[in-house]
Amino acid sequence: MKAIELFAGIGGFRLACDELGIDTIWANDIDNNASKVYRQNFPETIHVQDDINAHISEVPDHDLLTGGFPCQPFSSAGKKLGINDVRGTLFASIVEIINLKQPQFFVLENVKRLLSMDSGSHFSTILNALSSIGYFIEWRLLNASDFGLPQNRERVIITGYRTNNIKEITPKLLPKNDTLNINHLSLKKVYDFSQWIDFSKHKSKFKIWGCAYDGKFIDIDIKEFSMALPPKYLYEVLEKNPDNSFFFNEDTKKRIEESIEVNRYYNGVEIRYNQKGGARMGYSIFGVKGVAPTLTSSTSRHYERYEIDGSYRRLTNIEYARIQGFSDNHCRNISVYDQYVLFGNAVPPALVKWAINQLTNTKGLSLDQLENTDDFKLTASSY
Ligand SMILES: C[S@@+](CC[C@H](N)C(=O)[O-])C[C@H]1O[C@@H](n2cnc3c(N)ncnc32)[C@H](O)[C@@H]1O
Repeated sequence: MKAIELFAGIGGFRLACDELGIDTIWANDIDNNASKVYRQNFPETIHVQDDINAHISEVPDHDLLTGGFPCQPFSSAGKKLGINDVRGTLFASIVEIINLKQPQFFVLENVKRLLSMDSGSHFSTILNALSSIGYFIEWRLLNASDFGLPQNRERVIITGYRTNNIKEITPKLLPKNDTLNINHLSLKKVYDFSQWIDFSKHKSKFKIWGCAYDGKFIDIDIKEFSMALPPKYLYEVLEKNPDNSFFFNEDTKKRIEESIEVNRYYNGVEIRYNQKGGARMGYSIFGVKGVAPTLTSSTSRHYERYEIDGSYRRLTNIEYARIQGFSDNHCRNISVYDQYVLFGNAVPPALVKWAINQLTNTKGLSLDQLENTDDFKLTASSY
């Protein structure tokens, strides 16, 4: 199977594909540092450094299209510009390439806020576009902390597979054990296209799982991810003797004296102190017994303070790599400062590996198969 990687950054999707034996033959990104890292790690792949819109006709034939499209217009960390921002039109280049090349599969990634911003109208536009060109679309909100990584990082994964027969649909991001926790009447609606909702009638934010086809969708909130790996904690990935430059000085100690002890976990993140005494992240000093808060590309995040073995320091670039699931030296040809941006922007390979594998290597369960399992009968009878 052959893949292409759009908005490739430092190759998060690429690493996932490598592990699954999928060959990434073409990649694109506009950023200089990201391109340097990509080329050094993956010299065998054709990598074009430029605006994607100038290269659409060069994209080679492929079976799987991947891409974490730019999240600034959607990100809760960025400005809340919404779908009218011109950067949003980069999404249009994805649709254009899919239309032109008709890959069997695609997997896209974006920030959690995409599900809710503008009461879901942004996500509705995206799904409507993707589902109207002959693909069965499925999305799911996933957290890096469920994939053996010490980070609370929620990301929406949108998958598609080409089909012109809605009766063929079998959700693949909904493992059997997850379906056992869903009211079986809601689950039946998933398999009954007549119950799906027209995108023009959609009103509010989208739920954490759903699927779409031909301008219609159905969505469900799911409480647990049954395939989660055992948790990993921040203290397990720390460097032993980080350079002095990562440690904070007297100024921080003064701030800490002014702070209030919190000692609480918020979304799995240990918060030791902050200036308000609540679980809010502002001016927090984190502990390492939980997971890291979402790493981002914004500079302020790189200077967040952690209490580690009685000292106060920020996380190192190597710890950023480990928290995101990359090798320590993945960005070795880039300055320490710039590495934070690249790792903060990247997709954790383990998270998308799961989605790509589910989409391309599993059959999914038909309603018949579900209804015929003893587990399902047992659960169904309790509703
Ligand atoms: C969220 S990051 C994707 C990171 C990537 N998934 C990874 O694992 O590193 C979005 C990427 O889109 C790139 N980008 C932004 N505008 C672009 C454009 N017009 N053409 C191509 N790439 C662009 C940025 O440079 C950035 O690397």
